[in-house]
Amino acid sequence: MTNILLVTSSPRGPQSLSTRFARDIAESLNARSAGTIVERDLGAAPLPHITAAYIDGRIAPPETRTPEQIEAVDLAQSLVDEIQAADVIVIGSGMINFGPPTQLKAWFDYITWPGVTFRYDATGVMGLLPAKKVYLVTATGGVFSEGRNAPLDFQTTYLVHLLGFIGLTDIEVVRVEGTLVSPDAAKAAVASTEAQIRAALERAA
Ligand SMILES: Cc1cc2nc3c(=O)[nH]c(=O)nc-3n(C[C@H](O)[C@H](O)[C@H](O)COP(=O)(O)O)c2cc1C
Repeated sequence: MTNILLVTSSPRGPQSLSTRFARDIAESLNARSAGTIVERDLGAAPLPHITAAYIDGRIAPPETRTPEQIEAVDLAQSLVDEIQAADVIVIGSGMINFGPPTQLKAWFDYITWPGVTFRYDATGVMGLLPAKKVYLVTATGGVFSEGRNAPLDFQTTYLVHLLGFIGLTDIEVVRVEGTLVSPDAAKAAVASTEAQIRAALERAA
């Protein structure tokens, strides 16, 4: 039995390609294991941006926290708990202005938590989350896997870095790219994504 956490973040609702293909991966994995899928739809239900209540609250001794700090830290804890409970995490991210959507950035701002999901020691940073597989679906209007735009893919590089920073280094990236280049490119992009997913699922079998 595999517990899957599906984190989607596009603000584009049913039009979202990152959501569609992230869900495909989660459902295909689930069909094999009869486990559970817990959905965290950050597009439909965005998290509030972090505030001083969270930043100060997470370092305050629990018995001294204000009601706002308790609420903010409890929210962060519930997000970390969802990750801890999952065997596999599937994340969908559609590029907005060369990076991930702010909805997904807000999630990372809660879960990237000193002493809980990472810590520094004499040798540098250490991710504290237990190893688990992550499928990261990135959707982009342009092509970033190669060519002149490759150095501008701040979305994939940033997300892979952040995941590794908190201990999640086993990441399979699936791209949906070039969908706004032309109608033919959009069709080819979808076919390529489907092939990438088939290959990723075969590797996981
Ligand atoms: C506000 C906005 C900004 C975008 N910025 C970029 C961009 O910087 N580079 C790019 O290649 N595509 C960009 N796109 C296109 C999206 O990345 C593309 O439509 C992708 O499929 C969005 O993910 P989604 O389908 O999961 O919503 C942008 C789209 C929107 C709506």
